[in-house]
Amino acid sequence: MIQTLCILGRQPALGIAELESLFGASVLRPIGNYAALLDVEPAVIDFSRLGGTVKFCKVLTTLDTTDWSRIQNFLETVIVPHTQELPEGKMKLGLSVYGLNIGVKQLNATALGIKKVIKNSGRSIRVVPNNELYLNSAQVLHNQLTSQLGWELVFVRDGQKTIIAQNIAEQDIEAYARRDQGRPKRDAQVGMLPPKLAQIIINLACGNVKPADITCDILEYKDDAILDPFCGTGVVLQESLLMGYKAYGTDLEPRMIDYSEVNLDWISNIYKIPKENYKLEQGDATNHIWQFDFKFIAGETYLGRPFNVLPTPQILQETISDTNLILKRSLQNISRQIKSGTRLCLALPAWKLQNGFKHLPLLDSLTDMGYNRLSLVHAGEKDLIYHRDGQVVARELVILIKK
Ligand SMILES: C[S@@+](CC[C@H](N)C(=O)[O-])C[C@H]1O[C@@H](n2cnc3c(N)ncnc32)[C@H](O)[C@@H]1O
Repeated sequence: MIQTLCILGRQPALGIAELESLFGASVLRPIGNYAALLDVEPAVIDFSRLGGTVKFCKVLTTLDTTDWSRIQNFLETVIVPHTQELPEGKMKLGLSVYGLNIGVKQLNATALGIKKVIKNSGRSIRVVPNNELYLNSAQVLHNQLTSQLGWELVFVRDGQKTIIAQNIAEQDIEAYARRDQGRPKRDAQVGMLPPKLAQIIINLACGNVKPADITCDILEYKDDAILDPFCGTGVVLQESLLMGYKAYGTDLEPRMIDYSEVNLDWISNIYKIPKENYKLEQGDATNHIWQFDFKFIAGETYLGRPFNVLPTPQILQETISDTNLILKRSLQNISRQIKSGTRLCLALPAWKLQNGFKHLPLLDSLTDMGYNRLSLVHAGEKDLIYHRDGQVVARELVILIKK
């Protein structure tokens, strides 16, 4: 089997958790804090549904060395016959390195060395220069390095070995930007959930679906609806629809339901998604009775008061208690209405203090509320916090199973 090498995004634990949730722990092996090997053929993976991986690579070989000059020698020796398999035309080459002890200057020198060998074989070639040890998504996409004439070689240190892989799909940052910034209704007040994070939340909610089911043909999922009980402007619903699920959103604020409706109409027109695939209704999650069936729950809950800077301890404590109460009542209400085994992934607030995060108190009484918290093998609970530098309110991703 050809293995897939995943290069993880800014918060690697989220990418690892997502892969484990979808494919299972036994086929996944994290490498350093930048990559993971998946014992799944790249051809059966629908890369576009993964928010936490930025490069999807096909493993070409593994060398018993981490010494860069030996790696370079190996490349210069074996590369020419491989270039002959490419179609006619000028090929483009890029290099990305993770965990190996080399500098950017040396990497660029290697690229030029390989260029020379390939050029001498009679093939025309252009090299994408590195500003850092790895090429970013914009560089890969702009230079079409995953196209037929493109080659991004990815080198990942794995203990005393080096994995050499070829990037076959880069995360489509332009598509994410269109889905994020192009939405007709946005609201800075309720926050801007990045579509990538929405995908991770959905993938954590949907659980360990067998790889065979995650081929591009995910239409078979369609009868499985995802409920977001705090849908806001509808980012989780939008991403659920794009992943082939039905979407069901409720929110306390009628204005948010209107916003979600406009946004989902917009996305479904673009992607030709039937209007019957989504339903919206106003409802307070603390007491709402959900009218329609759903299989999973995924969403970003009420996050409490927004803060630009850490408030006084008293205000922080009040905010935490108020938010905790609303979310506790909501989780109790949901628990009464779902079947045993129903899986949820919620992004709950956590507050960044000087020395770590302050978590929602309700996390200590989940069992009393009718839930078990799911622990993953390769990602610790405490690592599943989405946070950017300078933010006070972070999002803690919690996976729950109804008892
Ligand atoms: C952080 S926002 C979610 C934003 C959403 N992910 C989006 O794509 O825009 C939280 C949402 O929870 C809603 N909310 C607050 N209290 C609620 C309650 N008791 N029941 C249902 N929704 C509530 C707010 O109106 C807000 O839209």
